[in-house]
Amino acid sequence: MCGIVGYMGFRPAAAVVLNGLQRLEYRGYDSAGLALFEDGKLELYKTQGKVADLRQLSSFDTTTQTIGIGHTRWATHGVPSDSNAHPHKSNSGELLLIHNGIIENYDALKQLLISKGYVFHSDTDTEVLVNLIEDVQKSHNYKLGKAVQVALGQVIGAYAITVLDIKKPNELVVAKLGSPLAIGVGENEYFIASDASPFVEFTKQAIYLKDHQMAILRREKPIVLRSLKDDNKADYYLQELSLDLEQIEKGGYDHFMLKEIYEQAHAIKDTYRGRLLGEESLIKMAGIEEHLEKFLNAKRIIIVACGTSWHAGLVAEYILEDLVRIPVEVEYASEFKYRNPIITERDVVIAISQSGETADTLAAINLAKEHGAFVFGVCNVVGSTISRATHAGAYTHAGPEIGVASTKAFTTQITVLTLMALRLAQAKGSISKEEFKSIIAELELMPQKVEVALLQNKTTLEIAKRYQTATNCLYLGRGVNFPVALEGALKLKEISYIHAEGYPAAEMKHGPIALIDENMPVIVVAINKGHYDKVVSNIQEIKSRKGKIIAVVTEGDQTVKALADHVIEIPETLECLSPLLTTIPLQLLSYHMAVILNKNVDQPRNLAKSVTVE
Ligand code: G6P
Repeated sequence: MCGIVGYMGFRPAAAVVLNGLQRLEYRGYDSAGLALFEDGKLELYKTQGKVADLRQLSSFDTTTQTIGIGHTRWATHGVPSDSNAHPHKSNSGELLLIHNGIIENYDALKQLLISKGYVFHSDTDTEVLVNLIEDVQKSHNYKLGKAVQVALGQVIGAYAITVLDIKKPNELVVAKLGSPLAIGVGENEYFIASDASPFVEFTKQAIYLKDHQMAILRREKPIVLRSLKDDNKADYYLQELSLDLEQIEKGGYDHFMLKEIYEQAHAIKDTYRGRLLGEESLIKMAGIEEHLEKFLNAKRIIIVACGTSWHAGLVAEYILEDLVRIPVEVEYASEFKYRNPIITERDVVIAISQSGETADTLAAINLAKEHGAFVFGVCNVVGSTISRATHAGAYTHAGPEIGVASTKAFTTQITVLTLMALRLAQAKGSISKEEFKSIIAELELMPQKVEVALLQNKTTLEIAKRYQTATNCLYLGRGVNFPVALEGALKLKEISYIHAEGYPAAEMKHGPIALIDENMPVIVVAINKGHYDKVVSNIQEIKSRKGKIIAVVTEGDQTVKALADHVIEIPETLECLSPLLTTIPLQLLSYHMAVILNKNVDQPRNLAKSVTVE
């Protein structure tokens, strides 16, 4: 995890790096640091806390240095503290390094360096790496680039690094394996960052470094890319960025999360735009068309993902099995990788990831590929590691999601997976023309219906006020809305730190019912589809035990209204598409709860948006 930013050019580097770090805080925010360099003089600032705390350390407005590197951290090795914050210095004080990733063999390397007389001032793996580079450089009298290449040859793990050598003031060396690294190329200036957001207002030209590549950036000189494996020069592709500044700003909302909740109507439309051709009754998805046979011949579909993306996978399991009639298994990527699963060439693996960087999901993909499975990615971030590691894929096109709690990524993932299910069902002949038409017609109405669901904002705020002192919550749903219950509970846990459990409504009687008393809010998805009557019975069971019932119902519902303490109405829709609507009030409820409790909505404690460690 962690975010790295670097700059070398003509602008004051402090402003570029600090603003850039702030945009990368979604990657981690427990400590931050900045090194500025000019005319042989180095200034280094590090602190536990956020980028805002780092800004307090100096009056950076007046600084003029034009080289800077900075870091925002999510702790892996060593607690969040000033000394563990990056940049890390080598023993001689000549090399400075920022790092996103993990050096797995750091302990062995550290012992080796200690035996050579190196001393360490932090508990991090990064300080080991910077001293390893120094050791290689000094022992062989190598140039910095060569020393980085040779040192990284001894490293096991993942990294995106930037190294500054104060003896070579107009040069930065960057390298990548596993963790993302983008280089912004401007007129006489270079930017380095974990994604393009820190430099999007300065240049639209970017190079995304590939794994096992390094780049040497010299002031006013062309960039040089090399292979870390053999040191040979490598070609690069200058990518035109389509990201706009306003997409990564709050646009008048108090929090990114709220903005992203409200963006869902648009985002869903962007997801199906150009793919769903309603008038022709067609779904066109290049990644599916090109590999249709793989899907149609699949004995099984395995979905791998983590967190919210895993919940989207669970929703997809219901839809795919129902429409396409191919068995589907949904796996936590982290468990899949480590339990010696049976994977064959007849399996199709769908990997779902908003960031496209989640290490567990990536590891599961690699395992599936080793066993000859066809791997299809559903990612949001264009050009991300997972989107490149998979054989084919479909982007969600949700736009940047910055709030750590995932919202629009979830609904757009479900949209893509539904489109896939419909296309495959059509190709397989497992869906009637009428059903196909009615689902796509309803899908086209979804953006409008999401807008209507968002009108429940005020109701959810009132409910949040009423239950702000709750310490536990239960979320229940059945069928395709069972994963929605899990997602609702996850949202509440993530940002308000209230303990919450999601359960299939019928399972309640096998345990969680013991928890229900007059203090327990139970949020039930009880729309008039699927096993409505059974859910009504479950609600009766809660009521008999004095639980407080907050029900998400279909507009006009009377039965549940008569039983529940609170109802939140959403528009009528087909059962298979209902998660796109039932999720909305649960997101809003968690959001309001967190705001009322004065929690940091966009940057909840201990979490990070992009989890690049296994
Ligand atoms: C982290 C985030 C979650 C996200 C999960 C999977 O835990 O905080 O919001 O759902 O990673 O991330 P991915 O980018 O693979 O969807």
